Amino acid sequence: MKIVLAGDFDDAEEHQRWHEALAQALPEAHWLGADAAAAYADEVSVAVVANPPPGSLAPFRHLRLIQSLWAGVDRLLADASLPAGVPIARMVDPAMSAAMAETALWATLALHRGFFTYQRQQRDGVWRALAQRRADEAPVLVLGRGEMGRAVAARLRAQGYPVTAWGRDGAPLAPLLAAHEIVINLLPLTAATRGLLDRRFFAAMREGAALVNLGRGAHVVDDDLLAALDAGHLSHAVLDVFHAEPLPTSHRYWTHARVTMLPHAAAATDERSAAAVVAANLRALEHGRPLAHLVDRGRGY
Ligand code: GLV
Repeated sequence: MKIVLAGDFDDAEEHQRWHEALAQALPEAHWLGADAAAAYADEVSVAVVANPPPGSLAPFRHLRLIQSLWAGVDRLLADASLPAGVPIARMVDPAMSAAMAETALWATLALHRGFFTYQRQQRDGVWRALAQRRADEAPVLVLGRGEMGRAVAARLRAQGYPVTAWGRDGAPLAPLLAAHEIVINLLPLTAATRGLLDRRFFAAMREGAALVNLGRGAHVVDDDLLAALDAGHLSHAVLDVFHAEPLPTSHRYWTHARVTMLPHAAAATDERSAAAVVAANLRALEHGRPLAHLVDRGRGY
């Protein structure tokens, strides 16, 4: 089996690490970088990809599977030259879900216990203890009931938080937004969820509530979020994802006192566990067994 490994890797070293992890997990396959694969374009049957530049899969006309190393496939699906009819699998990596649950727990603890407020107070030389509330007094709404949403909800419940998990097929959102003080976004980015977190969404949130965006930057209308923060309607936003990454340093989020930023680092795919996930799916393909984590192109995830 000839496999092309293509992606928007940070650098050659990251590409090399993936190559080694994947080749170790599936040594019987012939792993090729994008340039080397071009010489065998008609023989390459699988593409393992991490947000490859648009058009990069077009030369491979006999693909039987496109396996993403990213959980979110929004950028991949936006490539108009993606070969039609080829199954796409997204990454479901247990180590990544665990990391996401850790980040969500950190943000939830910091918001509920006022640790971001203490950070601001220290900067301002203010010594003032806030009222201490129990976890069961801080209801959390998790948007998204996929792998990540479920892992996050389970971790927060284990920590004592009352958690409601919402999916787009579920109950109307506005009453839920009004009933929770922390909202964590883990929705997939699709035509239906782009810009969902807008002025109306924030207005429906409870006074003083906080947003944690661990999904995609394009879920949020930035000006609307900034307006809600500036007006004091929302108390804080923890943001891991942005419209542009890296976020230009001129953007207001960088310096906003009520925004905590992460550089899209809430949960990276773990090469070691993800390589095993890829190998299992490629072996299933070889042996005609059902493929795992297939994307519904129409639905967008
Ligand atoms: C990260 O954002 C991913 O989709 O894997």
